[in-house]
Amino acid sequence: MDILSYMGPRARLADKALVSAVKALPFVHPPLRAAMLYTLRAGGKRIRSVLLGASYELFGGRYRDVLPAACALEMVHTYSLVHDDLPAMDDDDLRRGKPACHKVFGEAGAILAGDALLTSAFTVLAGDAIRYGVPLPAGRVLKAAAILAARAGASGMVAGQSADLEAEGFLSKKGAPGARAARLLGYIHLHKTADLIAASLEMGAALAGASGREYRALSGFGLKLGLVFQAADDILDVVGDKRKLGKSGSDARNKKLTYTSLYGVEGARRRLRSLAAQAKSKLRPFGRRAGVFYALTDFFAERDR
Ligand code: IPE
Ligand code: IPE
Ligand code: MG
Ligand code: MG
Ligand code: MG
Repeated sequence: MDILSYMGPRARLADKALVSAVKALPFVHPPLRAAMLYTLRAGGKRIRSVLLGASYELFGGRYRDVLPAACALEMVHTYSLVHDDLPAMDDDDLRRGKPACHKVFGEAGAILAGDALLTSAFTVLAGDAIRYGVPLPAGRVLKAAAILAARAGASGMVAGQSADLEAEGFLSKKGAPGARAARLLGYIHLHKTADLIAASLEMGAALAGASGREYRALSGFGLKLGLVFQAADDILDVVGDKRKLGKSGSDARNKKLTYTSLYGVEGARRRLRSLAAQAKSKLRPFGRRAGVFYALTDFFAERDR
């Protein structure tokens, strides 16, 4: 399967829908709307919307019908990046090939843009259901909202970001025990990244009305796939082409606990390959229907941007 020609059109649909969704929000203070649109429009691979769509399509649905949910997920992800780049967090100046949001709109502007993207994501997810009646049963939309809130919030992505910041410098402490570092790294990556990747698959499955067994299989796949994705992110931070990545790489400067700082680049690559195999093993219940997810796993493992 040519995975790039699968992803491309779906990502472009998400690009358009995201801009329309933010433009459609009423009464937004103009500089705030500009800051929200700035990082959304800067690009991004839109892998979370592609995953959500692929999960929904697995059960016979059409990607277009879940675009509001895909937009909500990408808005939450984009808020996490806007805040992640702030001086108080990773202090990065470049994002998606452009000056980071806080470099253009100031720190307060970027904090508020993030706040607005996060909250308005739920307007976008639920809004259609309230205003027009969506082609999806309201109970399924509610379940998708609950998944997104749980995976993004205090037990999910934010927990991971909190642990990621707390773990800065962990490996330079004298006698930092390897087993504790590995456990901590597992917690950070599971939450800061894998939670939202799992949410993509879970939301697609919930919106499609998947059975409990299918939902759990996709969720388990998503968690492993998220670890693959973050392992690749850690490796690219060291060896990647910064122009392709559109970010400058700050893990070493911030003394982050990452796959590469703990295991070295080759050790990280070995672990990434093993995680990719574990992710694929979760797809067995779907047989040949899951072809696109095998190809996406390879793309995540081998990506250069
Ligand atoms: C970057 O995510 C942050 C991580 C969780 C590694 P992406 O690599 O998906 O960023 P965009 O959306 O393509 O910019
Ligand atoms: C961030 O991880 C994950 C988020 C929840 C934003 P990183 O700090 O490694 O992401 P990049 O490398 O800045 O994109
Ligand atoms: Mg970070
Ligand atoms: Mg960062
Ligand atoms: Mg990174």
